[in-house]
Amino acid sequence: MRCDVLTLFPDMISSVLDESIIKRAREKGFLDVRIINIRDFTQDKHHTADDYPYGGGAGMVLKVEPILRAVDFIREKENDLRIVLLSPQGRRYEQSIAQELSTEKRRIVFLCGHYEGIDERVKMYLSPEEISIGDYVLTGGELAALVVIDSVVRLIPGVLGDSASVNEESFNDILDYPHYTRPSEIRDMQVPPVLLSGDHGKIKIWRRRQALLSTLKKRPDLLSEDNLSTEDREILEEIKDDLTI
Ligand code: ADE
Repeated sequence: MRCDVLTLFPDMISSVLDESIIKRAREKGFLDVRIINIRDFTQDKHHTADDYPYGGGAGMVLKVEPILRAVDFIREKENDLRIVLLSPQGRRYEQSIAQELSTEKRRIVFLCGHYEGIDERVKMYLSPEEISIGDYVLTGGELAALVVIDSVVRLIPGVLGDSASVNEESFNDILDYPHYTRPSEIRDMQVPPVLLSGDHGKIKIWRRRQALLSTLKKRPDLLSEDNLSTEDREILEEIKDDLTI
């Protein structure tokens, strides 16, 4: 993925992108990300990036010129951009959007709003796609941009090392099964014996059953017919029978 993050708080972004798996993905060239400070594109001596809202009211509004100038700067090198505005008014983010973004060839520009909002003319001029990471209001788009970047980067082949772990997990279809590591016993709690049995067939069935059970309990809405194989449906019927006994 190639992207730019336009923000008034570059340290918020770098503090996350300079750690752990994302840091490694950057070092290995799977993620090319530039952090661009909107304030660097102001032209007045006080570097004003926000101003009072016309018509009055609380809070400040991000000014239009610094943002458009920052985007012009990016366009000098590359014209065909995908511009994403993080905002609570956007389309609700989900795994299918992460998957789609992970194959995007264009440079993605993540525009982080802050304060009360962003001058409407930024949207008129750039026609960004708007993404919301959920129905709650953050202090700005930075955390949302990081959520999107994180969820996309881990889908890029090679980033996680073991590509099976991406395919087997939650939200390709149903929730994940429980995981255990050493020790096999602690404070009277045991690892389920099947996981110590070495019988890979049995382990696979056990995990699928646990995943279906967890989904049935926590997210029954995910158990639509088209997610489930005939075998899944049989396991699910068994689980439901067990639960009613
Ligand atoms: N900015 C503020 N709240 C947000 C949200 N829920 N999603 C994306 N960007 C935001």
